[in-house]
Amino acid sequence: MASLPLIAEKDSEILDSQTHIWNHILNFINSGSLKCAVQLEIPDIIHKHGQPMTLTQLVNALPINNAKSTHLARLMRTLIHSGFFVITKTEGSDDEGYALAPPSILLLKDNPLSIRPFVLAMLDPIMTQPWHNIIEWFQNDDPTPFDTVHGMTLWDYIYARKEPKLNHLFNDAMARDSRLVMNVVIKYCRGVFEGLNSLVDVGGSTGTVATIIADAFPHLKCTVFDLPHVVQGLEGTKNLDYVGGDMFASIPPADALLIKWALHDWSDEETVKILKKCKESIPSKEKGGKVIIIDMVIDTVMRNDEKSIETQILFDMLMMIQLTGRERTEKDWAKLFFEAGFRDYKIIPILGVRSLIEAYP
Ligand SMILES: C[S@@+](CC[C@H](N)C(=O)[O-])C[C@H]1O[C@@H](n2cnc3c(N)ncnc32)[C@H](O)[C@@H]1O
Repeated sequence: MASLPLIAEKDSEILDSQTHIWNHILNFINSGSLKCAVQLEIPDIIHKHGQPMTLTQLVNALPINNAKSTHLARLMRTLIHSGFFVITKTEGSDDEGYALAPPSILLLKDNPLSIRPFVLAMLDPIMTQPWHNIIEWFQNDDPTPFDTVHGMTLWDYIYARKEPKLNHLFNDAMARDSRLVMNVVIKYCRGVFEGLNSLVDVGGSTGTVATIIADAFPHLKCTVFDLPHVVQGLEGTKNLDYVGGDMFASIPPADALLIKWALHDWSDEETVKILKKCKESIPSKEKGGKVIIIDMVIDTVMRNDEKSIETQILFDMLMMIQLTGRERTEKDWAKLFFEAGFRDYKIIPILGVRSLIEAYP
């Protein structure tokens, strides 16, 4: 290589800045490529093949125009760079093929813990459009950019079933996330449920979390509490039942309440209202009363790396754009707990970028 002229620090800084900005302009390509891989079911096809797949094998297995082979190779290079696939030798030959890297296991359609429905829901144009209208929202009185674009809240759009396809994706995404999270909770935090006789899962959707707890603790009476149309027609079991209602009005009483991945949907004012209703439904701390919350605590993560903190900060923006909610630091949570009349709390950062929090009356 020809010897390079020594570049002055000032010039090198400008070039670095250009790269930094370009990188941010192009960031959406990572999500777009991921979405395409999921839609084409590339992880499923490689997984079913049972061993690394050459480019030709992959092109033949995918529902795409064979003339697009080199284009597919470029998509795969991007996805290898972002850690979804690896390139490795195929068995018994010198050919190289594509294999799954660990995150792709969580993109498989048949994996009960799959994040595939969440990818498809979050990257649906209905959900991405509001990112183009943030400036308009900053200047108007709408509660969220989602409202600015769609003229209604995300709840009305999705949960009130104005959009059945997205509603199904959301419910599926929540159910699979619940399995993933509860596998960890039941394995490493059993103590949280010990000594309880009754538990209500507030905003418990169609009951995946409560079913897992009810199966793991057969003596525990579990109730799924959600909006009437969400739990309508759902059948309980020996130690599980469904109750429809509004958590801002009243919550069925129990020794403990669980709220998974729901409080971050709401503003501070709304969250304090929910927490006050929770407090009315549980006994004192001395009698075992508590609220178990599964949500993020910004800056409190299992692996203290840049990716985890960035993921939390991005989730906070997501809550701001789609809903009136937010992600919270420990100080933010403490303020809400004390305002709602709780006296103490404990944070267990055991769920990746989320934590299990216990709030005591
Ligand atoms: C983000 S989802 C979380 C679902 C579930 N906890 C999970 O993690 O899988 C929020 C849930 O809160 C429910 N919800 C929204 N408003 C509610 C209200 N006013 N009363 C009871 N549930 C409500 C929604 O129907 C939805 O199931």
